[in-house]
Amino acid sequence: AKDVYLQWDVTWVNAAPDSYERPVIGINNEWPCPQVDVDVGDRLIVDVTNSLGNQSTAIHWHGIHQYTSGTMDGASDVSQCPIPPGSTIRYNFTLDQAGTYWYHSHNMGQYPDGLRGPLIVHDPSPPFEWDDEFTVTLTDWYHQEMPELLDQYESTDNAQSNAGDEPVPDVALINDSTQSQFKVQPGKTYLVRFICVGNWPGHAFLFDDHEMTVVEIDGVWVEPYPVGERNIRIAPGQRMSVLIKTKDDASKNYAFWDTIDINMMFVYENKPIPEHYNPNATAWLVYDESLPLPPPPVINEFDFIDDLSFVPYDRTPLLEPVDHQIILNTGHTTINGISRFTINGRTYMPQQVPTLYTALTIGPKYYNNPAVYGDVNPIILKHNDVVEIVINNYHNNLHPWHLHGHQFQVLQRTNVDGGFFNGYYANVSSTPVIRDTIMVQNNGHAVIRFRADNPGVWLLHCHIEWHVEAGFVVTIIEAPDQFQNMYRSKDHIRICDAYGSPSSGNA
Ligand code: C2O
Repeated sequence: AKDVYLQWDVTWVNAAPDSYERPVIGINNEWPCPQVDVDVGDRLIVDVTNSLGNQSTAIHWHGIHQYTSGTMDGASDVSQCPIPPGSTIRYNFTLDQAGTYWYHSHNMGQYPDGLRGPLIVHDPSPPFEWDDEFTVTLTDWYHQEMPELLDQYESTDNAQSNAGDEPVPDVALINDSTQSQFKVQPGKTYLVRFICVGNWPGHAFLFDDHEMTVVEIDGVWVEPYPVGERNIRIAPGQRMSVLIKTKDDASKNYAFWDTIDINMMFVYENKPIPEHYNPNATAWLVYDESLPLPPPPVINEFDFIDDLSFVPYDRTPLLEPVDHQIILNTGHTTINGISRFTINGRTYMPQQVPTLYTALTIGPKYYNNPAVYGDVNPIILKHNDVVEIVINNYHNNLHPWHLHGHQFQVLQRTNVDGGFFNGYYANVSSTPVIRDTIMVQNNGHAVIRFRADNPGVWLLHCHIEWHVEAGFVVTIIEAPDQFQNMYRSKDHIRICDAYGSPSSGNA
């Protein structure tokens, strides 16, 4: 194991990923942001300087458990104060999980302006073999900047025709471009790591005439699953790695094709699909640069593989029995004319004092008192309990729910209009799929389980960035009696103290 030391200056840069130039948030004056490659066991030390001038920031390491390093989770107002312009903070933690992850700003509504990139933790002894690998990011993209789009989204002004409607992306991007080419050699096996870094619709993708075999989901190796004629869906926050075998000769190039889900953007929102709207992006597997780049295949129907079809390679058994079951009824409402999402009737409000700070400073007799944590809809967990969370989705659209601090087993997940949890489990696998982000279907539900073995303060939220802004977040306060000791001795409080103690709030 080694130390990987990075110095990141977060800056505005101009970029034109689809030939429309706009300011984006880059790192060290470059965009797309760099891929971070480390090996299992390495320590990652990143000094992040905020040179944006006009916005605060913070970096979250999506999918990394941060076991005993919950102060490094990077969620603004949760595990740290945001980094103000002109300041630097150090993230410093060990990577003890192999797999495909990513990093992104976890300052409200910021990463879709560009501040996100792949984080690959290489496995010294993977269960499969490949010759080479590459990473493919998929995203929706907007010509306007997020602060402006969020203003429209949250506007109560009826003159703003799109008030309360999620802004519609201008294009889909593959590796932050509409022209990406993946150079390949004939006769080789490639591991292709897909990361959905988008903030709104799900994506479906395929290679023309190259069979994909899924081998990793959200950092978990799975039994090889050939995709065949079916389709893979990947939602904001999710990752999926596939093996592909290239052709034996280099006589032709092949299209790679991605589409963003028009059902989520229009159909379930009861909005007409604009004429000439193009939800597709194309890239190419390039065997020979002197040969033409063919158009993508035409696909009109999707047959998605369900998450529950995948089996973790190490066949981790189902966690049971359940010590603590939590039912979350999730829905949508309008509060004072503004679109808000609710969980058990409550909407999340950002905290002026990071919740971890609150949890560390309140007296022991208040540890388990939700009221002292403010409007964060807290769930308080006991150390080492097996926790089951049921997410009932009463909203007429899909939502990708992501949990910080854990990967979870997915016991069941209904189709669209599949109904709500009624206490009945259908055919639960003895080795359920394990992941950190699950797409919960409209008017349906999902049931997940994990062991509360990671003391800290973790968010559970819909990864659609509009919905994070609109309060679709709960805070999990896990084993506060344990992390009192764990984080007292660490230097995380320094992160806030460096900028003076927060001046108001409930700490
Ligand atoms: Cu990708 Cu709260 O995270």
